[in-house]
Amino acid sequence: MYKKLLVPTDGSQLSNQTIGSAIAFAREIGAAITFFYAAPDILATGDGAGLRSIAPTLLSETIAGDAHPVLLKAEAAARAAGVPHASLFKVSDRPHEAIVQAAEEQGCDLIFMASRGPKSIGGLLLGSETLKVLMHAKVPVLVSSVMRNSLTPDMNKALAIIQDEHRSLAAVLHAMRHLRDRAIEQSAPLDFQVFEQLLYYIREFPQKLHHPKENAYLFTLLRKRTHAIDDTLAALEAEHADESLLDQLFAALRKYQAEGSTQEGAFAAALDRFIGAQWQHMSLEEQVVLPAAQVHLLAQDWQEIAHAFGKNGDPRFGAEPDAEFRKLFAKLARMTSQLKPDASA
Ligand SMILES: [Fe+2]
Ligand SMILES: [Fe+2]
Repeated sequence: MYKKLLVPTDGSQLSNQTIGSAIAFAREIGAAITFFYAAPDILATGDGAGLRSIAPTLLSETIAGDAHPVLLKAEAAARAAGVPHASLFKVSDRPHEAIVQAAEEQGCDLIFMASRGPKSIGGLLLGSETLKVLMHAKVPVLVSSVMRNSLTPDMNKALAIIQDEHRSLAAVLHAMRHLRDRAIEQSAPLDFQVFEQLLYYIREFPQKLHHPKENAYLFTLLRKRTHAIDDTLAALEAEHADESLLDQLFAALRKYQAEGSTQEGAFAAALDRFIGAQWQHMSLEEQVVLPAAQVHLLAQDWQEIAHAFGKNGDPRFGAEPDAEFRKLFAKLARMTSQLKPDASA
């Protein structure tokens, strides 16, 4: 059976869904995953060459592009499922070549990837990159699903957005814990500046975007269709409104910053309590609410949710705040990720 899957991802809705399928598959067969991202080669452009001489730091950030946020979210999903994982990105304008090469170099025995039209082989609609990988790969390629054939594109879209938001929250929680553990291990002071930015994201993003969407659409529509999980929804809504653990974490951080290592233990405990509660909350949503929604919501409900969560949907949490938080998450991902582009491409 397969031991190590290469899962290419580009941050699109389709590849976000594929990540979920790949993780479920890897868990089932006891395999590990290497997530892979091919970043476009901007050095090949005039802008890239100019940036190299004027602003090398900005150049490396630009090269990394979406690699860090996309890969950190994929890792967060694998971590939550207990699947061993690693990430890799290469700079390449020929993603299929980079994918085939990465699978070989990483010793992967299966490439697990998504596909979408318009080309066709044996009745399957395949994207051009998937076709090229199929033609050149030296290991088997599993093409997971074909989005255009889906009977429930709105449901898929809505679920992909909610799960993607959970992954970004999980990635930030992991980064917070990692920063704290590294400081304790190295007996070094915590990087307060980075930690505060992570904390800012954790306070603002759920409050302004994620929780209001869940309350206003997902929970409200679910209550209309079933009373089977009313208690769970009420508990989750109460947790959305309750910031006491976050306030305690802020207070513990301030004390730690002011009084130093004597407060390290109290801060560490406050962080563990906060992260534990967040995990419990998201697990309940993923394991109870989303499955119930898939059973009880109607096509028109998913249409409403997908529209509201999409770019030009409900103006309260449409394109602008969404873009703002995406930018902030990408910045945090770059700041906290240890990943560097693989130079062997
Ligand atoms: Fe929630
Ligand atoms: Fe949630």
